[in-house]
Amino acid sequence: MFESLVDAAAIQVFESQIHPALPLVSTFEDENAIVQKAVDKRKREFILGRQLARTALKELGVAPGAILSAKDRTPRWPSGVIGSISHCNSWCAAAVGLAQDVDFLGIDIEEYSARTMSDSMIQSVCVSDELEWLSRLPAHDYHRGAMAVFSAKEAWYKAMYPITGQFLGFHGAQIKFVEFQADFAVWTGRLLESWQPFLRGAEFSCGKSRFSAEYVASAFIKYT
Ligand SMILES: CC(C)(COP(=O)(O)OP(=O)(O)OC[C@H]1O[C@@H](n2cnc3c(N)ncnc32)[C@H](O)[C@@H]1OP(=O)(O)O)[C@@H](O)C(=O)NCCC(=O)NCCS
Repeated sequence: MFESLVDAAAIQVFESQIHPALPLVSTFEDENAIVQKAVDKRKREFILGRQLARTALKELGVAPGAILSAKDRTPRWPSGVIGSISHCNSWCAAAVGLAQDVDFLGIDIEEYSARTMSDSMIQSVCVSDELEWLSRLPAHDYHRGAMAVFSAKEAWYKAMYPITGQFLGFHGAQIKFVEFQADFAVWTGRLLESWQPFLRGAEFSCGKSRFSAEYVASAFIKYT
């Protein structure tokens, strides 16, 4: 899902289906400790995310090691690495790049069958211009459009949170689709409120999404 969303010269991305038979334990005890009390589903997605991230890091020449989580849940990447992990019910992906090539990087995967967006959820995710854009889509594209806005905002949040260190609600940002095709989209993000060090009104033209029958995958990446 993510291969076409990243520049392969700068970013390594690995992804995989989450099979129920996948291991529930990591070879790194410190990682097991993080999900010790979690249900199996959570253990499986967490461990797979770490394995995919290590495979990607190896391609960058970074030696394998435990990837722990900070208190705010952000992965603790090795020094000089920028990365992002995403999982939904049945798919998991990890993307990494070197800080010399990438300023920020966030990925997100959503699964249609796992998340039907109700009207109230759409209202809580979308600002008025996005609702207006959704209303102009053909009826059969309405839900895909709403999922695309949601996924875009999650990818954007995960890209920038490591820089800002502050929460930003869904109404703090606006997504504008420059292209919205059957299988891909290109979008920009505009801040509707300041998210220090980024100021209200700042625009970022670095969003892309890909659509399959089952998934929406989004990436928000700024290359140096
Ligand atoms: C942080 C958040 C985006 C993660 O979403 P999620 O539904 O758990 O989705 P995903 O599975 O795609 O991502 C989880 C992974 O993201 C990473 N992550 C978690 N919090 C993060 C953060 N604050 N910043 C960056 N990455 C984060 C972790 O690697 C996590 O997986 P892991 O715990 O197995 O390591 C979501 O929980 C959230 O808080 N959203 C509200 C804020 C928002 O999206 N605002 C939009 C404004 S633009």
